[in-house]
Amino acid sequence: MADTGLSSEGAGSPGEGRYGERVFRPDQGGEGDRIDLGALTYDDTTMARLRALGVGPGWTCLDVGAGTGTIARRLLAEAGVTEVLAVDRDVRFLAARPVTGLTVLQADVTADDFAPGRFRLVHARFVLMHLPSPQRMVAALSRLLAPGGVLVVSDAVDLTTDSAPATPYTRAMRAMWRGLRHTIGTDVSQVPRHPELLRAAGLESVAAEIHVPPLLPGSPISRFWADTWERAREAMVATGLVDDGQLDEAVRYLASPACTGLSPGMLTAWGWKPAS
Ligand SMILES: C[S@@+](CC[C@H](N)C(=O)[O-])C[C@H]1O[C@@H](n2cnc3c(N)ncnc32)[C@H](O)[C@@H]1O
Repeated sequence: MADTGLSSEGAGSPGEGRYGERVFRPDQGGEGDRIDLGALTYDDTTMARLRALGVGPGWTCLDVGAGTGTIARRLLAEAGVTEVLAVDRDVRFLAARPVTGLTVLQADVTADDFAPGRFRLVHARFVLMHLPSPQRMVAALSRLLAPGGVLVVSDAVDLTTDSAPATPYTRAMRAMWRGLRHTIGTDVSQVPRHPELLRAAGLESVAAEIHVPPLLPGSPISRFWADTWERAREAMVATGLVDDGQLDEAVRYLASPACTGLSPGMLTAWGWKPAS
């Protein structure tokens, strides 16, 4: 079977490092812009889901691993929620743009003593896949819900590289997942199990959906992957699945009208804490 870089068993043991250390360092120029390219791609889908779940005036919200804070701000400005606590290990991007109703907290959400209160919405997007135990995190985040509150978790799912023919693009994606696993422990192979984890945490009316954005040349998502590969280049090449020349070819392919690759998607799963 082709080595997809995706299976957590075939990928060897996860690296000791953590998100933002060897890869995706927040102090490396342009990292905030890279996160914003992902946000530009997915924010409308996330906001539509949150609004459909009823998030609105009167809600208190926790955004875990809030990044540059685009969802936290849109919750306040568009959904009209009462307050948002935005938490991240590094809050430089959040602190740079304060708005009324937004509280910023620098904290490691995996810490045993992370207990910032109870919230009607707890949201975490593209965070759990980078953490050592999504199962433990889902359970911990569920405990932060007020009765009747909703937990919404989104992470990447790669539906394509497993079965797709080897192209510069699929080789680069495989090398990226493998390289991120080896350096910072990222694991997307278990993301389809998120709904099960929510159910196991005692949440009800669990459901999920997937959004796969088109890889149009010059689009935010195509630029996001190209920039992500640049930042992860060393880790990707170290897997032996691609070399520098092949990676350059993949970047050119992503920017070309000939690109027919399918982007990894965003799986969003949600579940409700019983009201009593
Ligand atoms: C891929 S970014 C996603 C940002 C944002 N949620 C979004 O979707 O635009 C992951 C974020 O999680 C944060 N993060 C990673 N591990 C964390 C931890 N253990 N505690 C708090 N934040 C963490 C990173 O600093 C980064 O801002």
